[in-house]
Amino acid sequence: MPQMFVRRSLTLTLALASMVLAQPASSAQQKEAAGPKIPISVWKTRTCGCCSLWVDHMRANGFDVKVQDVDNLEAIKGKLGVSPALSSCHTAQAGRYVIEGHIPADVVRRVLKERPTTIAGLAVPGMPIGSPGMEVPGGQRQPYAILTFDRNGQTTVYERR
Ligand code: CU
Ligand code: CU
Repeated sequence: MPQMFVRRSLTLTLALASMVLAQPASSAQQKEAAGPKIPISVWKTRTCGCCSLWVDHMRANGFDVKVQDVDNLEAIKGKLGVSPALSSCHTAQAGRYVIEGHIPADVVRRVLKERPTTIAGLAVPGMPIGSPGMEVPGGQRQPYAILTFDRNGQTTVYERR
């Protein structure tokens, strides 16, 4: 290979590498989302608007979301061990964890990374204003807790937002 060509292609490689490195990663979430997509299954009712917005939030943050519209969500919740007290508008499953309600994508990532063995899943009961998919035009936010729950119905606070 002629010396000149080698030097040229090296220069080109370096130029391309610096372009890749220069890609803006404006937030930690965007950076995280750049990895392989994480599969998650969601059960919701067909007409639930905030459920679809939560699905959008998950997709925007690196999740590969499989949506299943069902008529009887209670049956799914019962099967997955989500008690009425923990219930929200949609139910999901990521890995071995049940993900109930408007849980932020980064918290789902956290549980999948930490893999706690004693819990069945995470839940944000109800639908707190300002949680992902529950944003309102005025930007109001209602503080909420993301709970862990186990098969016996025991809960702990995993995170507060
Ligand atoms: Cu909702
Ligand atoms: Cu929902």
